[in-house]
Amino acid sequence: MAELDFIQKLRDLKTQSKLGGGQDRIDAHHKRGKLTARERLDVLLDKGSFHEVDAFVTHRTHDFGLEDKKYLGDSVVTGWGTVDGRLVYVYSQDFTVFGGSLSEVHAAKICKIMEMAMKTGAPIIGINDSGGARIQEGVVSLGGFSDIFLRNTLASGVVPQISVIMGPCAGGAVYSPALTDFIFMVKDTSFMFLTGPEVVKAVTQEDVTFEELGGASVHAAVSGVCHYVAENEQECLYLIRILLGYLPQNNMEDPAYLPTQDDPRRMEEALNTLVPIEANKPYDVKELLRLIVDDGNFYEIHKDYAGNVVVGFARLGGHSVGIVANQPAVLAGVLDINASDKAGRFVRFCDCFNIPVITFEDVPGFLPGTAQEYGGIIRHGAKLLYAYCEATVPKITVITRKAYGGAYCVMNSKHIRSDLNLAWPGAEIAVMGPEGAVKVIYRKEIMEAEDPVKREAELVAEYREKFANPYVAASRGYIDDVIEPKETRPRLINALEMLTNKRDKNPSKKHGNIPL
Ligand code: HXC
Repeated sequence: MAELDFIQKLRDLKTQSKLGGGQDRIDAHHKRGKLTARERLDVLLDKGSFHEVDAFVTHRTHDFGLEDKKYLGDSVVTGWGTVDGRLVYVYSQDFTVFGGSLSEVHAAKICKIMEMAMKTGAPIIGINDSGGARIQEGVVSLGGFSDIFLRNTLASGVVPQISVIMGPCAGGAVYSPALTDFIFMVKDTSFMFLTGPEVVKAVTQEDVTFEELGGASVHAAVSGVCHYVAENEQECLYLIRILLGYLPQNNMEDPAYLPTQDDPRRMEEALNTLVPIEANKPYDVKELLRLIVDDGNFYEIHKDYAGNVVVGFARLGGHSVGIVANQPAVLAGVLDINASDKAGRFVRFCDCFNIPVITFEDVPGFLPGTAQEYGGIIRHGAKLLYAYCEATVPKITVITRKAYGGAYCVMNSKHIRSDLNLAWPGAEIAVMGPEGAVKVIYRKEIMEAEDPVKREAELVAEYREKFANPYVAASRGYIDDVIEPKETRPRLINALEMLTNKRDKNPSKKHGNIPL
């Protein structure tokens, strides 16, 4: 009988813990179109795979009348489960308990699973929905945040870390997601900012709404803080499951191989005519990518930010790859500050996690102008250069059209340890475009010509014939081969297989000093 009482007590406690802040608060949460912390985990993880820890933890505050207000589990649900059968660690903040605010024990619960994730080598997914530091706990809560930040930093490059924002994420709390690899947000119901609209008004007299200040679209398109915006919570969690499929569990593993029905030898005739002959005519590089990768599936990251460069994951012959591609359809594919930051961080992520990087290059150079120079394009462009130079994963480049100037060097040129550099026959590889080049080197001759316009056109044509092609670079071995565009898929798959056992390393050091 006594034994049954114990069991009943356990069951009651577990039921109580599962209710978080109580049914009324759960109902209010649902009314806002939001799932509860536990429901989110149900959607994210394989059915029945979630194992919770620390469900009995309660806060330790005795001030502000909190001693009588205790909720089992405090304000975060933590544990592990699987996604497509692969282990992941999770935490999910429970807004129904003190607004999901971070207490000392809330932080300790998160730190515990982060440490387990690092020890066992599995990704961490954090679902954020919180009013930030538990105000009643003061500096103890700030200490808790700092404990998390340290672990985010130590886990960086060891296990993939994904942050999901599904409500408020304010104040210093934003720095945990900011330290992780990818941030997902949900349209209309999530926001991130260091100081809210009221503080902004008091300090700068600016009137701004929550959405304008830190909504998903702002962070996706303007600040670049957010990598993916979902229409709703279900879609968001589903997208994370897909993303995990491209990643290894940790830095010691290779990404999972996924057999494909898409023929690795598939020639794609459409590629032979996809790039316009006119050097200044745009085309959509995403169309090009879809024709090459397995089943046309390209998982784009940072879609709404710096559209002049495209980054994302795909598979080639079943192998997971990271793709960086200049986008001629946006700003002619020029490299600017935001594009450099976006691509640089992506290359570093791939290098951390043994994901080969494939670069599709069609770049007229770096964007000129005072806005870029004053904004530090030198420093930001150097990040991308550094990222490519430092990366030791298999690195392959396909030059589809333009490769000019510094951008030629930066976009995974042979000189910075690229393994295989292919060019399409229409590629133009030179210090600058023919029009700019002749203006510099033949300025006097053009000015003195009888018909300067005609002479300039002749010189441009001469320059194009002589330099704006792939064969000068190929004659030096800077390009390993010039290929027909339709051959690209089989050539890339072959190259990835050739590079399977690639080993390369950087000189021993504490860490480099990337130009931040
Ligand atoms: C304790 C909190 C809380 C907090 C919310 N609550 N935030 N309790 N500490 N930080 C409680 C509320 O008192 C309320 O309790 C319940 O959670 C729900 O909050 P509401 O305000 O009713 O919800 P809503 O209207 O949706 O507004 C959500 C909110 C707002 C926008 C997050 O609560 C808010 O502005 N909170 C304060 C945010 C903030 O300034 N945090 C500190 C940031 S500084 P009851 O019992 O009344 O329902 C920071 C420093 C970290 O985080 C530094 C790390 C380095």
